[in-house]
Amino acid sequence: MKYLITGTAGFIGFHLAKNLLERGDTVIGIDNINDYYDVNLKYARLANTGIEKKKIHPNNPVQSTIYSKYRFIKMDLAEKENLINIFRDESIDVVINLAAQAGVRYSLTNPHAYIDANITGFLNILEACRAFPVKHLVYASSSSVYGANTKMPFSTSDNVDHPLSLYATTKKANELMAHNYSHLFNIPTTGLRFFTVYGPWGRPDMALFLFIEAISKGKPIQVFNHGKMRRDFTYVGDIVEGVVRVADRPPVGNPEWSGNNPDPGSSYAPYKVYNIGNSSPVELMDYIGALEKALGKTAQKEMLPLQPGDVPATYADVTDLMRDTGYKPDTPVEQGVANFVTWYKEYYSK
Ligand SMILES: NC(=O)c1ccc[n+]([C@@H]2O[C@H](COP(=O)([O-])OP(=O)(O)OC[C@H]3O[C@@H](n4cnc5c(N)ncnc54)[C@H](O)[C@@H]3O)[C@@H](O)[C@H]2O)c1
Repeated sequence: MKYLITGTAGFIGFHLAKNLLERGDTVIGIDNINDYYDVNLKYARLANTGIEKKKIHPNNPVQSTIYSKYRFIKMDLAEKENLINIFRDESIDVVINLAAQAGVRYSLTNPHAYIDANITGFLNILEACRAFPVKHLVYASSSSVYGANTKMPFSTSDNVDHPLSLYATTKKANELMAHNYSHLFNIPTTGLRFFTVYGPWGRPDMALFLFIEAISKGKPIQVFNHGKMRRDFTYVGDIVEGVVRVADRPPVGNPEWSGNNPDPGSSYAPYKVYNIGNSSPVELMDYIGALEKALGKTAQKEMLPLQPGDVPATYADVTDLMRDTGYKPDTPVEQGVANFVTWYKEYYSK
C-alpha cells in the first residue's frame, strides 16, 4: 500500500510513518517544517527516519537512508498545484492528513494560521482526492470538538455544535467538509478525534513537555483550573495503532442511517468519525504525580484558573472504534509517562 502522510515531521506523523514503514508499506511524507515549536525537534524526528536535513529543499523529494520505501517532501498544504502533482504522479492508495496548526491556546492569538493550514490546506487535500481518487482519506480531528458538552463519555453520536476555540472550530469544519466530499464524490473519509496525545518525541507546547522542562530547571509548573482537570491522556503508540487499523478499513455508507434521526458520527455516504482515546480519564494531579515518580523529583506548583478556550474534562467513548477495529487504547499513564521521561533524558543528553 502507498500512503501519503502529511505532518511527518510532527509528533504523531513521525510515529505513524515509522510504524507503516516497519510493516513494509510505502510512505510519502509531507511537512512544511514550520516554527510553531522548535524545528530542531522536527528535523531530529526526520533524521530518526533517515531523512537528512542537509538534503531537504522545498518541493524536492528526499529519499530516506533507513527505509527504502520512504520519501519526504518539504511542502506546504497551501501549494495546491504541487500537491495535485504528487497525487497525479504517485497513485496513492491512502491519505492520512495530520498536518495542521495544532494547539488551543495559540488559536486565540493566531487565528489565521488555523484557517490557512486546517481549512484551506484541508480543502486542497480534498480537491486532490477528488481529482485523483484514493481508497481512503483519514484525517485528524480532535476531542476539542466536544467543546461545551459535559455529558460523559463523549460519543461520536453527540451533537458537537458548541466549540470553545477556533482550533476546535476548524477540526469540526474538517468533518463537515469531509462529509460533503464523501457525499458528492464518493470519497471514503474517516475523521479521528484524538484525545490528549503524549509520549516520546512529543510536542513542546503540551503539558507534559512544559512540566518536565520547568521541573528540570527548578521552576514551578503551571497547573490550570487549580488542578481540577480530568483528561483522557492517550499514549502515542496507542494512537498510531488505532490510526493504522482504521486506515485499513475504509468506511462504507451506513444503510441504517436516517435523515429523520441523523447520527452525527456516520452517514449514508462513505463517511465515519471515531474517537481515539484511552477511555479512562486521569486527574491532572495524578498525571503530574506519574511524572514526579518517573523523574524522582517533586514539582513546585503554581495553581492558576482555567485558560480561555480550554475544557475541564475529556473522556472518550470508544465503543465504535472497538466494534469496528477490535482495538482500544489502554497504555496506563504511569507506563506512558515513564517512556516519555526515558526518551526526554536521552534526547536532551546529546
Ligand atoms: N497531539 C495531540 O494531543 C492531538 C490531539 C488532537 C488532535 N491532534 C491533531 O493531530 C494532528 C497531528 O498533531 P501533532 O500533535 O503531531 O502536531 P504537530 O504540530 O507535532 O504536527 C503537525 C505537523 O504538521 C506540519 N504542518 C502544519 N501546517 C502545515 C501546512 N500548512 N503544510 C504542511 N505541513 C504543515 C507541522 O510542521 C508539524 O510538523 C494535528 O492535526 C492535530 O491537530 C493532535
